[in-house]
Amino acid sequence: MRVAVLSDVHGNLKALDAVLEDIARQGVEATVALGDFLSGPSDPTGVADRFIELNMPSVRGNHDRYITDGREKDWHIDTLVRGMLDERQRQWLASVPATLLFEEDVFLCHGTPRNDNASFMDGFVGPVVSLLDKDHIETEAAGFDHEVLLCGHTHVPRSLRLSDGRLVVNPGSVGLPFEIGSPDARYAIIEQRRAGWNTELRAVAYDHAAAAKQALDRGYPRWAEALTWGWMSPRGL
Ligand SMILES: [Fe+2]
Repeated sequence: MRVAVLSDVHGNLKALDAVLEDIARQGVEATVALGDFLSGPSDPTGVADRFIELNMPSVRGNHDRYITDGREKDWHIDTLVRGMLDERQRQWLASVPATLLFEEDVFLCHGTPRNDNASFMDGFVGPVVSLLDKDHIETEAAGFDHEVLLCGHTHVPRSLRLSDGRLVVNPGSVGLPFEIGSPDARYAIIEQRRAGWNTELRAVAYDHAAAAKQALDRGYPRWAEALTWGWMSPRGL
């Protein structure tokens, strides 16, 4: 079994299409998605239409929840996207579950298995990304006895092996790399082989300048900066 894993597209259709084109060459049997589909200024409705068309196994992210259920924090971008969606797009987003078991062995969530707005493996101190404490990661994974746990949310690509052999994979962000130091779109391929599950973390070049211009044209210059460089402005998004 060979599966492509996408997360955190954040409304960036150009990055998503570049990743889908790369996936088409990789001989995967399925593609799954881990949420935060639309929350971004580049082309959120285009991303919604693409996911509706592809109908892949998916879980929702915290920002998808903010868009459909109302705000948790006052995220300007989520209010913008909520106003852009038509009824079909809104219904699709509202229908995506918080977690999902794929093919018995692969568990999908956005943040941690219990919380779509918490970090599983990586934390941030200012712009510095750091691997969280081993005990924290093992505790968050406790009770989810599946061979692979897939998560997104942090936008940091990582493949980690728990002490009992289970694999935790974050594919990174397709459409909003903010502390990776590269604008490339990130995703992962996981593959089940005789010795266990393997991970391939991939970086795909795409027309990030065009995506940044879309963000700028919609009035999001700091978002455009992150899309251009893969680093977030000190003032945030
Ligand atoms: Fe995200």
